[in-house]
Amino acid sequence: MAKSPKLRSSREWAPDSWRNLQAKQQPIWPDEDSFQKVLDELSTLPPLVFAGEARNLTEQLAAVSRGEAFLLQAGDCAESFDTSADSIRDRLRVILQMAVILTYYTGVPVVKVGRIAGQFAKPRSSDTETVDGLELPSFRGHMVNDINFNEDSRAANPKRLLTAYNRAAATLNLLRAFTKGGFAALSRVHQWNREFVAASPAGQRYEALADEIDRAVSFMQACGIDGDKLSELSEVNFHTSHEALILGYEEALTRKDSITGEWYDCSAHMLWIGERTRELDGAHVEFLRGVNNPIGCKLGPEVDPEDVLKLCETLNPTKTPGRLTLISRMGADVVSKKLPDVLKIVKNAEHPVVWVCDPMHGNTFSTENGHKTRHFDDVLKEINSFFEAHKKVGTHPGGVHLELTGDDVTECLGGGSELAADDLSKRYETMCDPRLNGSQSIDIAFRIAELLHSNK
Ligand code: PEP
Ligand code: CO
Repeated sequence: MAKSPKLRSSREWAPDSWRNLQAKQQPIWPDEDSFQKVLDELSTLPPLVFAGEARNLTEQLAAVSRGEAFLLQAGDCAESFDTSADSIRDRLRVILQMAVILTYYTGVPVVKVGRIAGQFAKPRSSDTETVDGLELPSFRGHMVNDINFNEDSRAANPKRLLTAYNRAAATLNLLRAFTKGGFAALSRVHQWNREFVAASPAGQRYEALADEIDRAVSFMQACGIDGDKLSELSEVNFHTSHEALILGYEEALTRKDSITGEWYDCSAHMLWIGERTRELDGAHVEFLRGVNNPIGCKLGPEVDPEDVLKLCETLNPTKTPGRLTLISRMGADVVSKKLPDVLKIVKNAEHPVVWVCDPMHGNTFSTENGHKTRHFDDVLKEINSFFEAHKKVGTHPGGVHLELTGDDVTECLGGGSELAADDLSKRYETMCDPRLNGSQSIDIAFRIAELLHSNK
């Protein structure tokens, strides 16, 4: 069992101690009473995850921090309440394909964490949005309001917190069924390749890899390695994560573990702090320092290395491996200038961080037609510079954090199928940031595998 971080801090912590500090990015709920009623109800509902599962993830992430495993954290920018079962299955499917590619080429286990089953709240740069002279609250994710541009839809509605809980429970249930019930068995490696992906160059490359895996499994069977050993290949470990943004919701799902007596935020296995809410004296850092889940924190291009060290000291005072993941999202052109100093200060202080690259959020721009997009080449460039920075400093590049979907959407430019600006309007479906589609995701997995292989 993983050692859990005993919080040794001069300041006392309680699930509601964040309430004494400024909480950024919280919606204005029209009616405090109904908001409170919802929180009271949420606090009586069953936890979505078990604390032991979160400890298990900490243990797997500890292996990542030592360079013995690789983290693939991926999923939607903003999950929708309307996501179909097929779409959940296809997102899982593409993550499984990517994990197989990465495992095959790197020879190390891939820790799979979805941005899924709870990624319903979004931080926004502006509180309001104006269209044709009409100013309304910004869309803050389905946990808060709806995306349609009218007064009713954009009003924050606390009942949505309950729907978010129910949708997260249903999604998680389906994911558990798929990952433990045979869908994720390695013997199905061919069947994960969907038609439109299979037709792309990356999909064809995947087919060839799947053939090799099939042959390897048959070879093991022929050698008499059967039964229990091979049945381990029929299940996968998959964990959930989301940005812990709406602190009332996260507090209501925080429970004391009956085995260890420690607090866990049972809304997901892993929670992270976003770029806009990572102030050292802010409510989000205060809340997450006290829960024992593995936690993450985004680091943008303006980050001060001294602050990163203070974040490590506050969020992981016991230096427990696997407890803290730092997710750099600096932009393709900034990472090589900025990241090495951050890596050095943390390395010198001997903090066992899981270093992850989010190559999405620092590379977003809008096309002339107003589509928010990212170019595949920028995404790849940031990952490459991230790996180079680690090589230079002597630290482990632990993984990647991606926004993707299994669907055949047209939201990011480039990739094997060379998606162009004119293609974006064909199937632009995201409610927030642009995501890699199924074949772009497979393509990036091959590229990452090659980079890791050549950096060995
Ligand atoms: C996100 O992960 O969707 C996000 C908003 O990221 P960041 O906090 O890094 O901007
Ligand atoms: Co995003």
